Amino acid sequence: MSNWRHEPKTEKELRRLMAPVQSIVKWVKTRRGFIIGVGILKGGTGKSTSVLYLALYFALVLNLKVVVVDTDDNSQSIARWVATHEALGDKIPFTLIVHPTKGADAIPLKKRLKPLKSEYDVIIVDLGGGDKETFIDLCAEGRLLFMPSAPSGWETDRIQATLQTASRAAILNTEGLDVYNFFVKCDFNSTLPEEEREAMAEDLSDIDEDFVPPPFLHPYFDISKAPHHVRSWNTVPKRADLEEWGLLVRHAMKGIIEEEDEAA
Ligand SMILES: Nc1ncnc2c1ncn2[C@@H]1O[C@H](COP(=O)(O)OP(=O)(O)O)[C@@H](O)[C@H]1O
Ligand SMILES: [Mg+2]
Repeated sequence: MSNWRHEPKTEKELRRLMAPVQSIVKWVKTRRGFIIGVGILKGGTGKSTSVLYLALYFALVLNLKVVVVDTDDNSQSIARWVATHEALGDKIPFTLIVHPTKGADAIPLKKRLKPLKSEYDVIIVDLGGGDKETFIDLCAEGRLLFMPSAPSGWETDRIQATLQTASRAAILNTEGLDVYNFFVKCDFNSTLPEEEREAMAEDLSDIDEDFVPPPFLHPYFDISKAPHHVRSWNTVPKRADLEEWGLLVRHAMKGIIEEEDEAA
């Protein structure tokens, strides 16, 4: 289901782009409390769906202890998804924590995450599209930020602003934050992802001094619009549905693990 136009020609080239599963598990187990944010300062781009698939991949395929933090006061999609499937008796392989950003129970995200770091291997934060403060907190605390969007100007329009906010906030991050944009909802029978990447790279780059080039992942790792993604509200994705997410995670982790190995 991945983007066949960019498929690496050899097994060797593919391996060069991805970390082996065992080294990811080892890296996560050694450090624990690996914080991944999923956010873009815009609604409806595929954040919550991505959070669900990422959580299922880390839990079901990598057998890691995963918690999902839902910070989206407006829709609480992940919290509602979990409640729906718990009521149906479905097995949900991760823990859910709701993080209100407003009201009497609101606490800073940093405080929310602190006790989770020693208890879970992976902490995945659904940043929603609205609350800038929570987004900034994540950029200061997290190790990895994913910005998923469809390959359309309607959705990528906010990526540049999101990146600028993230790069400013990440100055406070003591571990370093890796930020990646990837496309979801891709129809690999069209060249939309290629067109959109080009447009984004060109957009503003000459005129805007604060331009931060979008940190794209390799186009082979874009996420399809396979129908199981749309059905996942009603049907818990199966292991086979997680395959493209596995490739994406292994690709993103390659850089992070190597960076830290070099630093060590
Ligand atoms: N990979 C995908 N393929 C097809 N549709 C998707 C995919 N990811 C998300 N969607 C659809 O996009 C819409 C918005 O997704 P959602 O995850 O709720 O976005 P957000 O959390 O950013 O508001 C939903 O209708 C969802 O089914
Ligand atoms: Mg959402």
